[in-house]
Amino acid sequence: MNDQYEIIDHQHDVVVVGAGGAGLRAVRGLADAGLSTACVTKVFPTRSHTVAAQGGIASALGNMGEDDWRWHAYDTVKGSDWLGDQDAIEHLTKEAIPSIVELEHDGVPFSRLDNGKIYQRPFGGMTTHYGQGQAERTCAAADRTGHALLHTLYQQSLKARAEFFVEFFATDLLTTEDGEIKGVLAWDLQGGRLHRFRGHQVILATGGYGRAYFSCTSAHTCTGDGMGMALRAGVPLQDPEFVQFHPTGVYGAGCLITEGARGEGGYLTNGNGERFMERYAPNAKDLASRDVVSRAMTVEINEGRGVGENADHIMLHLEHLGPEVLHERLPGITETAEIFSGVDATKDPIPVLPTVHYCMGGIPTNPFGEVVTKDGDDPDSLVPGLMAVGETACVSVHGANRLGSNALLDLVVFGRAAAKRCTELITPGARHHADISASEQQALERFDALRYANGSTPTAELRASLQNSMQTYAAVFRNTENLAKGVNKIAEEVQSFSDVHVSDRSMTWNSDLVETMELQNLLECAICTVNAASNRTESRGAHAHEEYTERDDENWIKHTLTWYQGGTDVEIDYRPVHMNPMTDEMAYIPPKERVY
Ligand code: FUM
Repeated sequence: MNDQYEIIDHQHDVVVVGAGGAGLRAVRGLADAGLSTACVTKVFPTRSHTVAAQGGIASALGNMGEDDWRWHAYDTVKGSDWLGDQDAIEHLTKEAIPSIVELEHDGVPFSRLDNGKIYQRPFGGMTTHYGQGQAERTCAAADRTGHALLHTLYQQSLKARAEFFVEFFATDLLTTEDGEIKGVLAWDLQGGRLHRFRGHQVILATGGYGRAYFSCTSAHTCTGDGMGMALRAGVPLQDPEFVQFHPTGVYGAGCLITEGARGEGGYLTNGNGERFMERYAPNAKDLASRDVVSRAMTVEINEGRGVGENADHIMLHLEHLGPEVLHERLPGITETAEIFSGVDATKDPIPVLPTVHYCMGGIPTNPFGEVVTKDGDDPDSLVPGLMAVGETACVSVHGANRLGSNALLDLVVFGRAAAKRCTELITPGARHHADISASEQQALERFDALRYANGSTPTAELRASLQNSMQTYAAVFRNTENLAKGVNKIAEEVQSFSDVHVSDRSMTWNSDLVETMELQNLLECAICTVNAASNRTESRGAHAHEEYTERDDENWIKHTLTWYQGGTDVEIDYRPVHMNPMTDEMAYIPPKERVY
């Protein structure tokens, strides 16, 4: 290896990687509590993917009618198809209320009712009285809620004097010989130098890996960077087989049309002009949970009832809502429809298709953000020094299927919880003396090997192949044969990475090298996903298996853990789902048939 890397050293109490909603909520809490906090982020904070979140954030405030956080908890457990941990779900739904009040005080410009309270809209799977009525629970800032949230949290983080390292790409975790996480190595994309960030805790908040797929609503930056770093440090991914398809991505472009559009009264039709959701979910109809709606749309298309020349999409109708509602409540998606499908949503329906949107799986954590793994008989042993929050993590509150508007909530509740936990664990200003030299050497060797990679496969070609394979073999419906093909195909692609070619060797603004490092992260997440999916012989939430069509509670109420072992090896084990709530304020919700 070239010994040309002089590394710049930084020491903080906590290092947060990522500046989306979860990262910034953690940063803001840490800095406010007087912990010295570095936020290392690949993109400028307000360009993080949270900015694209549209419809809103769930919380049982009861501003528009009766509500109770226990009903929200029930909906979330049912939405998760009983794979969510009930203790974590209790924490999420109970803490939703103070978390939103806090955001309001921080200055998030929520839409308002005439009485001044926060406006709340219906969302899929959100009910009152344990499934009896439709809840209005999702707090919205028109259809730009993520944008509003992200800007507010960034401003609060600056006010609290957190330090930002912008356009720094974190490459690997730095660990002691006995596996304690003590920092990260990061590459300053503009300055062209490598930086060592030491922290007593590292919080990974880098979002999901939607870009492993060809068509997704995720930003190009959603490449599973934190998950890849964790896997290379020997930490497993939990439940990666559960990947959510959002029912309404714009046909052909993949951009998100918020579920809030159906919350405001929008509906779907097939090629015969029929409101087919009435057949699949007689009560909730177009506001059933996302897995149910995406499957129904796919069945309609597969059985020849799609729309258009190739009968390959579905129509979303908003035109009956009138220009005033669209202008006030859904201005962003009206613009999106115009730009990406040439449709004036006040007059015509929007062509849509289920599109990859969210990874339910991620780095396993407890409800305080601490990373847990399975060590022998202990299914909840801690990985010292490491935390994860947001889509990077799997707490698990979403289980096999996330409810719309529970993602922004997850970001703020667990970002806040992780910051609080750090204040309990860390003495501000404590010295850094751990020996991390061996892991640093390894990280440098990997960096150097990729920088000088001189094979024959261009990064873009291998990425396109991966994205097509995931789209084909790990789709809305899966079957044994396709999953086996997927496992083989992704293994071939992982092997091909050793033949990758990087043509730019420079240390500044080298997008070729950044994309190659991102591709390695995507490949590692993808190989875990297809192996976990191929092992799970049942249908649950977003994992719909054509041969094992039923949920199998006897054998499969358990979380998958996948360790990437290098090469094409993935080790799989399982840990129990936490079926018991945290306190007696919430009753255990036993599994039952999931109908909407
Ligand atoms: O449809 C949406 O607005 C997306 C929200 C979410 O994924 O939570």
